[in-house]
Amino acid sequence: MAVEQQDWAQVVAAATRAPSIHNTQPWRFRATADRLDVFFDPGRALPVLDPTARQQVISCGIAVEFAVVALAAQGKAAEVDLLPDPGDPDHLAVLRVTGAAATGADDAALATAIERRHTVRAPFLPRAVPQELIDRIQVEAGRFGTWVKPITREEEEVATVFLLSRAEEIEQSDPAYLAELESWMRTEPGAVDGVPVEAVPSDDPQARPSNWLIRDFVVGSRERADFLPGQDPDAPPPEVERPAVVLLGTDEDDRDDWLMAGRALARALLIVTVDGVAASPLTQALDWPSTRSRLQSRLSLVGHPQMLLRMGYPPDLPDGAVSGRRPVAEVLDFG
Ligand SMILES: Cc1cc2nc3c(=O)[nH]c(=O)nc-3n(C[C@H](O)[C@H](O)[C@H](O)COP(=O)(O)O)c2cc1C
Repeated sequence: MAVEQQDWAQVVAAATRAPSIHNTQPWRFRATADRLDVFFDPGRALPVLDPTARQQVISCGIAVEFAVVALAAQGKAAEVDLLPDPGDPDHLAVLRVTGAAATGADDAALATAIERRHTVRAPFLPRAVPQELIDRIQVEAGRFGTWVKPITREEEEVATVFLLSRAEEIEQSDPAYLAELESWMRTEPGAVDGVPVEAVPSDDPQARPSNWLIRDFVVGSRERADFLPGQDPDAPPPEVERPAVVLLGTDEDDRDDWLMAGRALARALLIVTVDGVAASPLTQALDWPSTRSRLQSRLSLVGHPQMLLRMGYPPDLPDGAVSGRRPVAEVLDFG
Protein backbone atom coordinates (compact mmCIF):
# COMPACT_ATOMS: atom_id res chain seq x y z
CA MET A 1 0.00 0.00 0.00
CA ALA A 2 1.62 3.25 -1.14
CA VAL A 3 1.77 6.12 1.34
CA GLU A 4 1.68 9.77 0.25
CA GLN A 5 4.81 11.79 1.04
CA GLN A 6 2.81 14.17 3.23
CA ASP A 7 1.53 11.21 5.26
CA TRP A 8 5.09 9.95 5.71
CA ALA A 9 6.10 13.43 6.86
CA GLN A 10 3.32 13.30 9.45
CA VAL A 11 4.42 9.85 10.62
CA VAL A 12 8.05 10.94 10.92
CA ALA A 13 7.01 14.11 12.78
CA ALA A 14 5.31 11.81 15.31
CA ALA A 15 8.34 9.50 15.45
CA THR A 16 10.65 12.41 16.21
CA ARG A 17 8.51 13.34 19.24
CA ALA A 18 10.09 10.28 20.85
CA PRO A 19 12.09 10.98 23.98
CA SER A 20 15.82 10.44 23.47
CA ILE A 21 18.75 10.50 25.83
CA HIS A 22 19.84 14.17 26.21
CA ASN A 23 17.37 14.89 23.38
CA THR A 24 20.07 13.83 20.91
CA GLN A 25 17.44 12.55 18.43
CA PRO A 26 19.95 10.04 17.05
CA TRP A 27 17.85 8.95 14.06
CA ARG A 28 17.40 9.25 10.33
CA PHE A 29 14.48 8.05 8.22
CA ARG A 30 14.07 7.06 4.56
CA ALA A 31 10.59 6.68 3.13
CA THR A 32 9.70 4.90 -0.10
CA ALA A 33 6.21 3.99 -1.35
CA ASP A 34 5.24 1.48 1.31
CA ARG A 35 8.19 1.36 3.70
CA LEU A 36 9.98 3.49 6.21
CA ASP A 37 13.60 2.68 7.05
CA VAL A 38 14.98 3.86 10.38
CA PHE A 39 18.71 4.38 10.90
CA PHE A 40 20.88 5.21 13.89
CA ASP A 41 22.82 8.43 13.22
CA PRO A 42 26.32 7.91 14.67
CA GLY A 43 27.02 11.60 14.11
CA ARG A 44 24.83 12.31 17.16
CA ALA A 45 26.44 9.73 19.46
CA LEU A 46 27.27 10.16 23.15
CA PRO A 47 30.64 8.39 23.35
CA VAL A 48 31.16 9.08 27.06
CA LEU A 49 27.71 8.42 28.51
CA ASP A 50 26.61 5.80 26.02
CA PRO A 51 29.65 4.18 24.33
CA THR A 52 27.68 1.12 23.19
CA ALA A 53 24.79 3.37 21.99
CA ARG A 54 22.42 1.29 24.15
CA GLN A 55 20.40 4.27 25.33
CA GLN A 56 20.38 5.86 21.89
CA VAL A 57 19.16 2.63 20.27
CA ILE A 58 16.41 2.47 22.93
CA SER A 59 15.53 6.05 21.93
CA CYS A 60 15.30 4.96 18.28
CA GLY A 61 13.11 2.01 19.32
CA ILE A 62 10.70 4.51 20.88
CA ALA A 63 10.68 6.46 17.59
CA VAL A 64 9.92 3.25 15.65
CA GLU A 65 6.89 2.54 17.83
CA PHE A 66 5.66 6.13 17.71
CA ALA A 67 5.73 5.73 13.89
CA VAL A 68 3.66 2.52 14.18
CA VAL A 69 1.14 4.36 16.37
CA ALA A 70 0.97 7.30 13.93
CA LEU A 71 0.41 4.92 11.01
CA ALA A 72 -2.39 3.18 12.91
CA ALA A 73 -4.02 6.57 13.51
CA GLN A 74 -3.86 7.12 9.73
CA GLY A 75 -5.67 3.80 9.25
CA LYS A 76 -2.59 1.87 8.10
CA ALA A 77 -1.30 -1.42 9.45
CA ALA A 78 2.46 -1.91 9.53
CA GLU A 79 4.86 -4.77 10.10
CA VAL A 80 8.15 -4.03 11.81
CA ASP A 81 11.35 -5.84 10.98
CA LEU A 82 14.26 -5.02 13.29
CA LEU A 83 17.90 -4.94 12.15
CA PRO A 84 16.98 -5.98 8.60
CA ASP A 85 20.55 -5.78 7.25
CA PRO A 86 23.09 -8.03 9.01
CA GLY A 87 25.87 -6.01 7.34
CA ASP A 88 24.66 -2.68 8.73
CA PRO A 89 23.89 -2.58 12.47
CA ASP A 90 22.89 1.08 12.15
CA HIS A 91 19.98 0.10 9.90
CA LEU A 92 17.70 -0.36 12.89
CA ALA A 93 14.29 -1.09 11.46
CA VAL A 94 12.01 -1.23 8.49
CA LEU A 95 8.30 -0.56 8.79
CA ARG A 96 6.28 -2.04 5.93
CA VAL A 97 2.77 -0.79 5.42
CA THR A 98 0.74 -3.91 4.76
CA GLY A 99 -2.69 -2.42 4.16
CA ALA A 100 -5.56 -0.41 5.53
CA ALA A 101 -6.79 -1.03 9.07
CA ALA A 102 -9.70 0.56 10.86
CA THR A 103 -8.46 3.09 13.41
CA GLY A 104 -9.72 2.15 16.86
CA ALA A 105 -10.40 4.61 19.66
CA ASP A 106 -7.25 3.35 21.42
CA ASP A 107 -5.05 4.07 18.38
CA ALA A 108 -6.41 7.60 18.14
CA ALA A 109 -5.89 8.22 21.87
CA LEU A 110 -2.32 6.92 21.78
CA ALA A 111 -1.52 9.05 18.73
CA THR A 112 -2.85 12.15 20.46
CA ALA A 113 -0.72 11.30 23.50
CA ILE A 114 2.45 11.53 21.36
CA GLU A 115 2.09 15.32 21.25
CA ARG A 116 1.09 15.62 24.91
CA ARG A 117 3.88 13.50 26.38
CA HIS A 118 6.85 15.32 27.89
CA THR A 119 9.49 14.30 30.38
CA VAL A 120 8.46 15.87 33.68
CA ARG A 121 11.26 16.21 36.22
CA ALA A 122 9.41 18.47 38.66
CA PRO A 123 8.10 16.75 41.81
CA PHE A 124 4.81 15.01 41.10
CA LEU A 125 1.56 15.77 42.87
CA PRO A 126 0.85 13.69 45.99
CA ARG A 127 -1.51 11.31 44.23
CA ALA A 128 -0.75 7.63 43.71
CA VAL A 129 -0.51 6.10 40.24
CA PRO A 130 -3.24 3.43 40.08
CA GLN A 131 -2.03 -0.16 40.25
CA GLU A 132 -4.27 -0.93 37.27
CA LEU A 133 -2.11 1.36 35.10
CA ILE A 134 1.08 -0.37 36.23
CA ASP A 135 -0.56 -3.73 35.47
CA ARG A 136 -1.39 -2.52 31.96
CA ILE A 137 2.14 -1.45 31.17
CA GLN A 138 3.44 -4.76 32.50
CA VAL A 139 1.17 -6.62 30.09
CA GLU A 140 2.18 -4.31 27.25
CA ALA A 141 5.89 -4.78 28.00
CA GLY A 142 5.37 -8.54 27.77
CA ARG A 143 4.04 -8.18 24.22
CA PHE A 144 7.51 -6.94 23.22
CA GLY A 145 9.39 -9.68 25.06
CA THR A 146 10.42 -7.25 27.80
CA TRP A 147 9.46 -7.04 31.48
CA VAL A 148 8.49 -4.31 33.89
CA LYS A 149 9.36 -4.62 37.55
CA PRO A 150 7.78 -2.11 39.93
CA ILE A 151 10.26 -1.01 42.63
CA THR A 152 7.98 -1.26 45.64
CA ARG A 153 9.78 -3.24 48.33
CA GLU A 154 11.65 -1.02 50.72
CA GLU A 155 15.00 -2.81 50.42
CA GLU A 156 14.80 -2.63 46.62
CA GLU A 157 14.00 1.06 46.76
CA VAL A 158 16.89 1.72 49.14
CA ALA A 159 19.32 -0.21 46.92
CA THR A 160 18.13 1.56 43.76
CA VAL A 161 18.24 5.03 45.31
CA PHE A 162 21.74 4.31 46.63
CA LEU A 163 22.98 3.24 43.18
CA LEU A 164 21.41 6.31 41.55
CA SER A 165 23.27 8.51 43.96
CA ARG A 166 26.52 6.55 43.46
CA ALA A 167 26.16 6.95 39.68
CA GLU A 168 25.55 10.70 40.10
CA GLU A 169 28.77 10.95 42.11
CA ILE A 170 30.69 9.15 39.36
CA GLU A 171 29.20 11.47 36.74
CA GLN A 172 29.76 14.68 38.65
CA SER A 173 33.44 13.83 39.08
CA ASP A 174 33.99 12.96 35.40
CA PRO A 175 35.04 16.01 33.34
CA ALA A 176 34.44 14.17 30.05
CA TYR A 177 30.86 13.30 31.10
CA LEU A 178 30.23 16.89 32.18
CA ALA A 179 31.65 18.33 28.94
CA GLU A 180 29.44 16.01 26.89
CA LEU A 181 26.37 16.90 28.96
CA GLU A 182 27.11 20.63 28.64
CA SER A 183 27.33 20.31 24.85
CA TRP A 184 23.70 19.10 24.83
CA MET A 185 22.31 21.74 27.21
CA ARG A 186 20.40 24.57 25.48
CA THR A 187 19.76 28.09 26.72
CA GLU A 188 18.41 29.64 23.50
CA PRO A 189 14.61 29.62 23.10
CA GLY A 190 13.42 27.48 20.23
CA ALA A 191 16.44 25.15 20.22
CA VAL A 192 15.67 22.14 18.03
CA ASP A 193 17.65 19.58 20.02
CA GLY A 194 19.36 19.13 23.39
CA VAL A 195 17.85 19.72 26.82
CA PRO A 196 16.46 23.23 27.44
CA VAL A 197 17.55 24.62 30.80
CA GLU A 198 13.88 25.38 31.55
CA ALA A 199 13.09 21.66 31.35
CA VAL A 200 15.40 20.76 34.22
CA PRO A 201 15.09 21.96 37.80
CA SER A 202 17.84 24.40 38.71
CA ASP A 203 17.70 23.54 42.41
CA ASP A 204 19.98 20.91 43.84
CA PRO A 205 18.51 17.47 42.99
CA GLN A 206 19.74 16.27 46.40
CA ALA A 207 17.46 18.91 48.03
CA ARG A 208 14.25 18.04 46.17
CA PRO A 209 11.25 16.84 48.15
CA SER A 210 11.75 13.33 46.81
CA ASN A 211 13.87 10.35 47.65
CA TRP A 212 14.34 9.69 43.91
CA LEU A 213 17.41 11.52 42.64
CA ILE A 214 16.88 12.92 39.17
CA ARG A 215 19.84 13.43 36.83
CA ASP A 216 21.69 16.64 37.62
CA PHE A 217 21.82 18.70 34.40
CA VAL A 218 23.51 21.74 35.94
CA VAL A 219 27.15 21.80 34.90
CA GLY A 220 29.38 23.92 37.16
CA SER A 221 28.49 25.50 40.46
CA ARG A 222 24.93 26.45 41.35
CA GLU A 223 23.69 28.96 43.86
CA ARG A 224 23.14 27.39 47.23
CA ALA A 225 19.43 26.65 47.46
CA ASP A 226 17.36 25.82 50.51
CA PHE A 227 14.93 22.90 50.50
CA LEU A 228 12.88 24.58 47.78
CA PRO A 229 13.93 27.99 46.49
CA GLY A 230 11.50 30.83 47.14
CA GLN A 231 9.79 29.08 50.03
CA ASP A 232 8.98 30.65 53.34
CA PRO A 233 11.56 29.12 55.74
CA ASP A 234 8.86 28.86 58.43
CA ALA A 235 6.41 27.03 56.18
CA PRO A 236 6.04 23.29 56.76
CA PRO A 237 8.26 21.26 54.44
CA PRO A 238 6.55 20.27 51.18
CA GLU A 239 5.12 16.80 51.00
CA VAL A 240 7.69 14.34 49.70
CA GLU A 241 6.55 12.89 46.37
CA ARG A 242 5.87 9.17 46.21
CA PRO A 243 6.18 8.39 42.51
CA ALA A 244 5.61 4.96 41.05
CA VAL A 245 9.02 3.72 39.92
CA VAL A 246 9.37 0.84 37.51
CA LEU A 247 12.32 -0.87 35.92
CA LEU A 248 11.98 -2.07 32.35
CA GLY A 249 14.32 -4.84 31.30
CA THR A 250 15.13 -7.50 28.75
CA ASP A 251 16.37 -11.08 28.93
CA GLU A 252 19.34 -10.42 26.62
CA ASP A 253 21.30 -7.25 26.05
CA ASP A 254 21.97 -6.54 22.38
CA ARG A 255 20.67 -4.08 19.79
CA ASP A 256 17.58 -6.13 19.09
CA ASP A 257 16.68 -6.14 22.83
CA TRP A 258 17.37 -2.41 23.10
CA LEU A 259 15.00 -1.74 20.20
CA MET A 260 12.31 -3.91 21.79
CA ALA A 261 12.84 -2.12 25.11
CA GLY A 262 12.32 1.18 23.27
CA ARG A 263 9.17 -0.06 21.59
CA ALA A 264 7.72 -1.30 24.90
CA LEU A 265 8.68 1.94 26.56
CA ALA A 266 6.95 3.92 23.81
CA ARG A 267 3.69 2.07 24.44
CA ALA A 268 4.05 2.42 28.22
CA LEU A 269 4.69 6.16 27.98
CA LEU A 270 1.70 6.73 25.71
CA ILE A 271 -0.63 4.55 27.79
CA VAL A 272 0.18 6.47 30.97
CA THR A 273 -0.04 9.83 29.16
CA VAL A 274 -3.59 9.01 28.05
CA ASP A 275 -4.44 8.66 31.75
CA GLY A 276 -2.79 11.96 32.68
CA VAL A 277 0.35 10.41 34.18
CA ALA A 278 3.80 11.76 33.28
CA ALA A 279 7.20 10.13 33.53
CA SER A 280 10.86 10.89 33.76
CA PRO A 281 13.65 8.42 33.15
CA LEU A 282 16.25 8.01 35.90
CA THR A 283 18.96 6.25 34.00
CA GLN A 284 22.11 7.35 35.82
CA ALA A 285 22.52 3.99 37.55
CA LEU A 286 22.25 2.24 34.18
CA ASP A 287 24.85 4.48 32.50
CA TRP A 288 27.85 2.75 34.05
CA PRO A 289 28.63 -0.98 33.88
CA SER A 290 29.55 -1.01 37.59
CA THR A 291 26.29 0.48 38.91
CA ARG A 292 24.20 -1.30 36.29
CA SER A 293 25.54 -4.73 37.26
CA ARG A 294 25.18 -3.92 40.96
CA LEU A 295 21.54 -3.02 40.34
CA GLN A 296 21.15 -6.36 38.60
CA SER A 297 22.50 -8.24 41.59
CA ARG A 298 20.92 -6.11 44.36
CA LEU A 299 17.47 -6.57 42.79
CA SER A 300 18.21 -10.22 41.93
CA LEU A 301 17.23 -9.54 38.33
CA VAL A 302 17.15 -12.33 35.80
CA GLY A 303 17.94 -10.19 32.78
CA HIS A 304 19.21 -6.74 32.01
CA PRO A 305 17.88 -3.42 33.28
CA GLN A 306 17.24 -1.02 30.39
CA MET A 307 15.23 1.87 31.82
CA LEU A 308 14.24 3.12 35.25
CA LEU A 309 11.14 5.26 35.06
CA ARG A 310 9.63 7.58 37.64
CA MET A 311 5.90 8.18 37.10
CA GLY A 312 3.27 10.37 38.66
CA TYR A 313 0.69 13.08 38.17
CA PRO A 314 2.47 16.21 36.91
CA PRO A 315 2.14 19.78 38.11
CA ASP A 316 1.50 22.36 35.36
CA LEU A 317 4.59 22.72 33.19
CA PRO A 318 6.12 26.19 32.90
CA ASP A 319 6.47 27.66 29.40
CA GLY A 320 9.75 26.66 27.83
CA ALA A 321 9.86 23.32 29.65
CA VAL A 322 9.07 21.54 26.41
CA SER A 323 12.09 20.31 24.49
CA GLY A 324 12.49 21.03 20.78
CA ARG A 325 12.78 18.77 17.78
CA ARG A 326 14.68 19.07 14.51
CA PRO A 327 12.46 19.73 11.51
CA VAL A 328 11.26 16.63 9.69
CA ALA A 329 13.05 17.72 6.50
CA GLU A 330 16.36 17.41 8.35
CA VAL A 331 15.85 13.75 9.24
CA LEU A 332 13.68 12.35 6.43
CA ASP A 333 14.74 11.47 2.87
CA PHE A 334 12.43 10.15 0.24
CA GLY A 335 14.10 7.26 -1.57
C1 LIG B 1 17.09 6.18 26.99
C2 LIG B 1 16.74 7.49 27.67
C3 LIG B 1 17.38 7.84 28.85
C4 LIG B 1 17.05 9.04 29.50
N1 LIG B 1 17.65 9.34 30.70
C5 LIG B 1 17.24 10.44 31.38
C6 LIG B 1 17.74 10.70 32.70
O1 LIG B 1 18.55 9.95 33.25
N2 LIG B 1 17.27 11.79 33.35
C7 LIG B 1 16.35 12.64 32.78
O2 LIG B 1 15.95 13.60 33.43
N3 LIG B 1 15.86 12.43 31.53
C8 LIG B 1 16.28 11.35 30.84
N4 LIG B 1 15.76 11.09 29.60
C9 LIG B 1 14.77 12.00 29.02
C10 LIG B 1 15.37 12.89 27.93
O3 LIG B 1 16.24 13.84 28.48
C11 LIG B 1 14.19 13.56 27.18
O4 LIG B 1 13.46 12.56 26.56
C12 LIG B 1 14.64 14.54 26.13
O5 LIG B 1 15.30 15.62 26.72
C13 LIG B 1 13.46 15.06 25.30
O6 LIG B 1 12.49 15.63 26.12
P1 LIG B 1 10.97 15.11 26.15
O7 LIG B 1 11.00 13.70 26.65
O8 LIG B 1 10.28 16.04 27.09
O9 LIG B 1 10.43 15.19 24.77
C14 LIG B 1 16.08 9.90 28.93
C15 LIG B 1 15.44 9.54 27.73
C16 LIG B 1 15.75 8.34 27.12
C17 LIG B 1 15.03 7.94 25.87
